[in-house]
Parts: sequence; C-alpha cells; structure tokens
Amino acid sequence: NRTENQMLIIFGASGDLTARKLVPALFNLYKGGHLPKNFVVLGVSRSNLSDDAFRKKVVTESKYLADRIGNQGEDFVNAFANQLFYEDLGSDYDTDYGALAKRIADLNVALKTDNNYIFYLSTPPSLYEIVSKNLTEQGLNDESQGWKRLIVEKPFGYDLSSAKNLNKGLQKYFKESQIYRIDHYLGKETVQNLLVTRFANSIFEPLWNRNYINHVEITNAETVGVEKRGGYYDKSGALRDMFQNHLLQIVSLVIMEPPIGSDAEEIRNEKVKALKSLRIMKDEETLYNNTIRAQYVASEVDGEKVKGYREEEGVDPESTTETYAAIKFFVDNWRWSGVPFYVRTAKRMPTKVTEVVIHFKTPHHQIFKDSGAFNKDNKLIIRIQPDEGMLIKFGVKVPGQGFKVERANLDFYYSSLVENHVMEAYERLLLDAMQGDATLYARADEVEAAWEFVDPILNYWKNGKDVRTYGYSAGVWGPTNADELIDGVGMWRNPSE
Ligand code: BG6
Repeated sequence: NRTENQMLIIFGASGDLTARKLVPALFNLYKGGHLPKNFVVLGVSRSNLSDDAFRKKVVTESKYLADRIGNQGEDFVNAFANQLFYEDLGSDYDTDYGALAKRIADLNVALKTDNNYIFYLSTPPSLYEIVSKNLTEQGLNDESQGWKRLIVEKPFGYDLSSAKNLNKGLQKYFKESQIYRIDHYLGKETVQNLLVTRFANSIFEPLWNRNYINHVEITNAETVGVEKRGGYYDKSGALRDMFQNHLLQIVSLVIMEPPIGSDAEEIRNEKVKALKSLRIMKDEETLYNNTIRAQYVASEVDGEKVKGYREEEGVDPESTTETYAAIKFFVDNWRWSGVPFYVRTAKRMPTKVTEVVIHFKTPHHQIFKDSGAFNKDNKLIIRIQPDEGMLIKFGVKVPGQGFKVERANLDFYYSSLVENHVMEAYERLLLDAMQGDATLYARADEVEAAWEFVDPILNYWKNGKDVRTYGYSAGVWGPTNADELIDGVGMWRNPSE
C-alpha cells in the first residue's frame, strides 16, 4: 500500500496519549521508512506551546521516546522532530478555527501535503462533535481536494444511547467512510491472527462450532490497579473500559462467520452479524446468574502494601465500580447454539495476560481409563499477550506398559517467527489510517451492537436488586464467587498455573 503525502492533525496534543503512544508510534514508522515523503504532524490543544517546546516535550526530551531513539544520531532525530508543529486553540475547543485552518493551509502549501488530512481526536468524547462541527465550518471535511479522515479514541460512548448520539453527531459532519474508531486491541498482531488461524487453515474451522467446542473462555488480566486514572475509571469500570470494546472485539473475531474476502467492509459486516447474535440478557435472574463484578481491596503483594480500589485517588470511597467483571453468555446462531462463553477482565491480577481458550468436547467414548494429568479435553489456547503465540493441548501415550495418557503441548511462539520488527498496536493502526484501510477500525454499527449487549448489564449493575460488588485481594484471580459462574464446565484456566 502506498502512503500518500499528508498531514496528521492531533487534537489534545499536549495530553498523555500523544507523548506516550502516538509520537512513539510515528517515530517507529519513521525509522521503518513508512512515513510518506511529505509528512507533517500538527499538534493542537489549549496549552500555549511553541513548535520547539512541543518537539522537546514529545520527541527530544520525552521519556517515552528515549529507548526508541537509542543510538540514532541527533540529525536523524531532529529530522523527525522538524516534521512536528504546534498550534494552540486558546482556552476552548469550541472557538474560531480560522487561525488553525490558516495554519493548516500554510503548512500544506509549504510542505506539500497535497490537502490530505487526518484529524486525530485525542480528546474527551464530549468534544468529538464540537471539533467536527468547527472543522466543517472551515471546510476541512471537504474532499474535493485531497482526502479527509477523522480518527476518534475510545471510550466511544458511555452506553448505547450516548454511542448512538456520538455516531449521529460525527456523521453530521463526516461520512462513515471517513471515520476511524480506534480499538487498540485490533492493532495487536495476535488479535489479527485470530482471523488467519481460523480462515487460512483447514484444520481448525471444521471443528469451530457447537459440535466440537464445549465452551470458550477469554481472560484479560492486568497486574496494575487503576494507576492515576481513578477519576476516569470510577465513572467507567471494567465493563465499559475493557469489555464493551476490546473483549467484544476479540469475541466477534472468534465467533464470526467466514467473510467473503479480507476487505474492510466484508470483515466488518461479519463482525456486526456476530455481535448481533450475542444473546442479550434481559431479566434480573439471568443477569444475576451470569454476571459478576468485583473490586480489589487493600492487600499485600510480595510484602508490599497495595491500596484498595476505594482508596485510590479520584475514586469515590463508597464506589461500586467494578475492577473485575466476569460474564457468561450465549451466542444465538446456528454455529454456536448452546455453547457457553466465559469472559473476564480485571485489574490487580497475579499476572498480565490476555488469552482465548477454545475448550473442545471430550471424546464421546473413553477407551483409556488411565488419563493421568490429561483431563481428556483438547484445548487450543491463543495467547494474545504476552508470550504471543498458540498452544494446543492434547493427550499422548506415556511410554511403557498399558495405555496411560498424559497431557502434551504443541506450542508456537510468535517470537520464534519474527526476525523483523513487530509493529505495536498504535503503529499499525496509524499506518492503516494513513493508507485509508479501515479494516482494523470499528464501524458505527459494530460499536452500537456491542453496546446493545452491554447496556442491560450496566443497567442491572446500577439499579438491579441483589446486585453485589464482591471484593478480592490484589494478586489473586478475582472473587471466589466467579468460580460458580463457570462451575458447569469446570474451572477457570488461570494462565500462570
Ligand atoms: C485501555 C484501558 O483501553 O487498555 C486500560 O483503558 C487498560 O484500563 C488498557 O489498562 C490495556 O491495554 P493493554 O494493551 O496493555 O492490554
């Protein structure tokens, strides 16, 4: 794919994301020779910064770039930094964008970016529509000369109705084909590999259905707590922060039907269909039996005291916001009818890991009684992170008399395959948007379908009778109550075990 000359205009450029993720991703693209010949980054926000100060902040003096710069010479780094510019908007995002439009036009002429602009909104979602409106007033959504694209960050909405409003708000000013909704999990190689595993092989797909799969388990665990994001997190919680977006994206790739081709629309059409087939939990009893939320409580990990969630800065001391969510659900379609899915996400777990476990059914007839450590069902474990790879667990004969069966592993590590640089999520996603490929971005109907499933859970957790927020100590695999959720099919696979 060709990356055309263009300008990337980042709103909220003085914020954390720009320094921590976006500029490092751009620097890697620069190192890899992926940036177009004429390329400009224009940072925009309310802070008053000069071009130079901005370059220092996000490049030359940025702690996030130091290790990437490594032993690259000063000239090399400066040549990158000199592509960055800054424009301050004054005290409000809803203001006259005349000066900004003029700056864009001037840079475009001077540095020949061919009127191709990406507007990256790294701002709170409440500003998406406002920024879009103001850009439109300046004619900056107009594609008669050069293309215009809009990237928006998560969270995309707070619930179904706010997501719909956001979509409507953006679509007043930009066409859906111009809008790129980021979900950084889709930028992960191993998440994309789900598609390849399923649809580039003939050995998995014939088994990928209710006839051979007993249940599916997805775990996303982090060791960190809410860090400095208590204020944001307390209004969000694990369900909104991780499940509605990242985990349901993974679910959609696991359950979708084969697309006709690998084109963005074809893949996304199938993902929407998949998300629409999640069985929505309507009544309180179902919600009570199939959802668990919990918070980490003050505890000690390796001799160190760890604050409880309610003691974190920015968190309401009586908060019921979950830092752990486990959901059991079904998918109502031909392929998955009757197969339970167990998905959990949490902070302050014993290890950082994201994995998908496909549990195959046990053979219908057991010939070998002595199955030792092998508990008879085959598992395919797709490790999204870390130790990216895949693992198949199957039974083998223990050498010797009789037929003793032991568990064996067929293990593949991504690290053994790649000699070249594996792109980080933001790197890959930015490059895709720069090339106009929206495959790894969420479409409006996809986001809404995901909220449609999540909304009743959120409502129940907010208003339902008998709703509990359980506690768990940092460094354990969540509340023991979550064991009951998966009881019917066995136990959670806790990856470090
Ligand atoms: C973000 C969430 O989207 O994803 C964070 O807001 C979370 O709370 C992060 O920590 C996890 O991302 P990763 O790539 O480290 O798994």
